Amino acid sequence: MRNPLPPVPGKLLELEVSDDLKRGTPLATLIAAPSEEDGDAGLAEIGGVRPTGKAGDVQTVPTGGVRWLAGVGDGEPKQYRKAGAALVRAVTSALEEDVKAGEKAFRAFAVELPADAGAEHVEELAFGLLLGGYRFTVTAEEPKPSLRTVRLITRHEGAVGALERVRELAAAAAFARDLANTPSNVKTPAWLADTAARAAGGIPNLTVTARDEKWLAEQGFGGVLAVGGGSAAPPRLIELEYRPRGATTHLLLVGKGITFDTGGLSIKPADGMHLMRTDMAGGAAIIAAVRAIATLRLPVKVTGLVPAAENHVSGSSYRPGDIVRHYGGKTTEVGNTDAEGRMVLADALVYGIKKHKPDAVIDAATLTGAMKVSLGVRTGGVFATEDALAERVTKAGERVGEAWWRMPLLEDLAETVQGSLGDVRQAPGGPGGIVAALFLREFVGDVPWAHLDIAGPARADKTYADVVPGATGFAARTLVELVASYA
Ligand code: BES
Ligand code: ZN
Ligand code: ZN
Repeated sequence: MRNPLPPVPGKLLELEVSDDLKRGTPLATLIAAPSEEDGDAGLAEIGGVRPTGKAGDVQTVPTGGVRWLAGVGDGEPKQYRKAGAALVRAVTSALEEDVKAGEKAFRAFAVELPADAGAEHVEELAFGLLLGGYRFTVTAEEPKPSLRTVRLITRHEGAVGALERVRELAAAAAFARDLANTPSNVKTPAWLADTAARAAGGIPNLTVTARDEKWLAEQGFGGVLAVGGGSAAPPRLIELEYRPRGATTHLLLVGKGITFDTGGLSIKPADGMHLMRTDMAGGAAIIAAVRAIATLRLPVKVTGLVPAAENHVSGSSYRPGDIVRHYGGKTTEVGNTDAEGRMVLADALVYGIKKHKPDAVIDAATLTGAMKVSLGVRTGGVFATEDALAERVTKAGERVGEAWWRMPLLEDLAETVQGSLGDVRQAPGGPGGIVAALFLREFVGDVPWAHLDIAGPARADKTYADVVPGATGFAARTLVELVASYA
């Protein structure tokens, strides 16, 4: 029987650049919204269809050379992402209709860009085309015929170079989506470690090491072991090391790898619990980003660390009231077993900083429901000990189309995470996202540190821009771009 799980990482569409049309390839053209000069009647008809030009609108032309008209609105680069995503979805459904009607499936289509489209437009369009048609299904059905290639028809000189980078960034986002979308009955900590190792195979200067529960116990990873102790699937620590020759700067990236979060004994309500299969989205972003960083051969040393565990309920679960000793010795008073992300991150932060002495540390985690309330589901929260690092993250996000908002590490709340029985208190109440960040800060020391809380944007329940419902891969692209900023 065929394995119904899709391969992880899945395959991305091929993007080609060409300056001429190949006969027989279905063609789409991009259309800006009507300007005042176009008058009340709007744009001239094409093949009997009057284009709206609205970004995200795709109209089908029944006859003639062009088959689809994709609006790009005011023509700003951002609208090109929306247009690319809407177009690839429309073309995919057209292909499926063709197949249903017994016609031979086309495997490629071409998009004609306006003459004035620059590198940024090409990049945005490519993000839309590569990610807007993303799908993840687990099915016994034979795979449907699908698109393989998109040809961009442009004479823009920088297009080929721009696409190299975009392809890797999009591949990172798609890989992070694949990992987070994989159901938790498959996605054990060991599966996550094996999949990371497999995906890193053959990439120069990149190695992946997975540590098991025995090693974790010997080394004193009390946070990871406490959280993972309730599950039949034991925890792992995944370490990705990218060591390009001659690089001097060393960055440590740490990602929350909770393969499923029931809440533990402080159990979550049934409504929405299934969504917690994406609770390793921070870890996924880091695995995917390090792979892309190595593939792009960026001249920066990078270590990725993903403490992976399942937060489950059983006779061996950790309890509220427990006092847990982390890697390095600091102890935490457990208040709520559902605040498990910070427990595993604390161990990994101390270990990574001690072992690698990085120049800066960035962690990414679906850490708090509170952050989802603060910033909604399209913006990530950035906490940072240095203004320059916060700005670097935000700017990197802007360049790849991910929105970040700086959050404060409020000093007057710092004492709430101080312990009375142990060194620190895990879940003292107060503004959830900030308190969680202050807890993590206790494990970081003096190294410049940024904490990315992606509980909101890691998942989507609607289609927008290049995002489809499910895991979004949020933060993977920002992390690659952030590392590139140190090159
Ligand atoms: N994984 C959750 C946070 C989360 C919530 C992510 C919603 C995505 C969507 C995290 O482990 C958690 O449960 N946090 C608790 C902490 C609390 C018990 C202090 C929360 O935010 O409620
Ligand atoms: Zn939780
Ligand atoms: Zn969680």
